[in-house]
Amino acid sequence: MNLRQLAGLSAVVGVAALAATGVALGDSGGGDSSPIYGVKIPDGYRRWVLIAPAQEAEPLNELRAVVGNDLAIKAYQESTLPFPDGTVLVKLAWKHVQSPEFEPASIPGAATTVQVMVKDSQKYASTGGWGFGRFINGKAVDEAQHQTCFACHQARVKNHDFVFTRWAP
Ligand code: HEC
Repeated sequence: MNLRQLAGLSAVVGVAALAATGVALGDSGGGDSSPIYGVKIPDGYRRWVLIAPAQEAEPLNELRAVVGNDLAIKAYQESTLPFPDGTVLVKLAWKHVQSPEFEPASIPGAATTVQVMVKDSQKYASTGGWGFGRFINGKAVDEAQHQTCFACHQARVKNHDFVFTRWAP
């Protein structure tokens, strides 16, 4: 058995073990839906493939990770633009905290937001085909915040189907 198969096997075992502890992992699918778009936190996103980490300094001081569903990962691997309908991207974020065990290292502190983008070119035609959702503790934030999403993504990454994150090598 080569390394890749081993990794696959341990992933399968891991998923089986994790299925029972989804809640403990913050894997709260379903539930609240966002204003304007009706986007929900997708089931199982906490086990999706990492596209890239990110970090913001001031004012939020956060560590972040962007993950995607299978369609998203395939689109990245094949450089498909625009992303196909059904693509879902999730950005997780945590407070950036200094490691208590090793000063130069950073670790994730408290979870701050979960943000979601769902591609449906018909339903969300007026916002580049993307529906947006921003959640704090599983609850969608207000409509005013959701009015800012597309504007920023449109202003800066229109040429990449309104998606900032590139595949981390
Ligand atoms: C002022 C600019 C700005 C606004 C407003 C904004 N975003 Fe983003 N968004 C970013 C940047 C920059 C990234 C790249 C990752 C990072 O640096 O955190 C990003 C990344 C994302 C991602 C991962 C996919 C990608 O494009 O990289 C999602 C999902 C997301 N944002 C959702 C939202 C939602 C939902 C809202 C509204 C509630 C929102 N964003 C508002 C700037 C913005």
